[in-house]
Amino acid sequence: MTATENPGLAWEAFGPDGFADRLAVVTGAAGGIGLEAARAFHAQGARVVMVDVNASLLSQAAAGLPGATAVPLDISDDDQVANAFAQINAEHGPIDHLVHAAAIITAKRFLEQDVAHWRRVLDINLVGSFSVVRAALGPMVDRGAGTIVVVASDAGFRGGGGLIADAPYAASKAGVLSLVKSVAREFAGTGVRINALVPGPTDTPLHSTVSSELKQRIAAGLPVGRMGRPDDMAAAILFLSSPAARFVYGSALDVDGGSMLR
Ligand SMILES: NC(=O)c1ccc[n+]([C@@H]2O[C@H](COP(=O)([O-])OP(=O)(O)OC[C@H]3O[C@@H](n4cnc5c(N)ncnc54)[C@H](O)[C@@H]3O)[C@@H](O)[C@H]2O)c1
Repeated sequence: MTATENPGLAWEAFGPDGFADRLAVVTGAAGGIGLEAARAFHAQGARVVMVDVNASLLSQAAAGLPGATAVPLDISDDDQVANAFAQINAEHGPIDHLVHAAAIITAKRFLEQDVAHWRRVLDINLVGSFSVVRAALGPMVDRGAGTIVVVASDAGFRGGGGLIADAPYAASKAGVLSLVKSVAREFAGTGVRINALVPGPTDTPLHSTVSSELKQRIAAGLPVGRMGRPDDMAAAILFLSSPAARFVYGSALDVDGGSMLR
């Protein structure tokens, strides 16, 4: 058993103060799924550090969660990430839970894409995930405890080329799923757990340019008849971060209203 495992029955993990005094770091926390995950941890008693590149939105978001700390940074800058995580560990103590939700979505037609576009998407979504996971993982492994949830996407399985996600976005998310499995395999048994959350279409600011008509069409095409909500994702993130998921390693949890049924 490690500090983040519950020695009793797995379901006992969920209580009103399930994450009391734990330190949760959430990237992409200025909006959408990341912000909702930060809210969920905060409501469960955790100390929350919120990371995002959008400094003004981030400080507004953090102001809504008393005691939360905002750390503006660009996850595609490896030095910024390493320095910020070292500072978080120094100032707030060891990170118990990392949720990595920061990413961009792009929807360019394939023949209009160029190498610069692919590099930008992969730099932020995939290489940025490497930087964030590595920065959090080292101290967790040294301590023998910690959980990591990386937010992937159904596009990582389905591919892009549709209406809301293109090939480099989908490739970046397939890469993220593979990153999670690689880390899970290498670090299983250290006390650190890593898993991927696989959202289907979810109504967040990521789709701010998608028309409400297209959102309705997307919702109608899903078995449950609605798009996901950020709190649907946050609940699953809490589960994956909790001792209730103590035997869940390197998994890709579909939270998509039955969209993939894989
Ligand atoms: N909304 C969906 O339908 C959906 C579906 C599948 C997967 N996802 C994934 O969920 C995660 C959260 O997305 P969301 O829907 O909440 O969208 P969102 O746009 O609300 O959140 C993404 C956040 O990441 C931040 N970000 C972007 N680039 C960054 C960078 N370089 N450094 C630091 N922060 C950066 C943005 O500022 C934003 O606040 C993403 O990984 C996304 O790919 C979303």
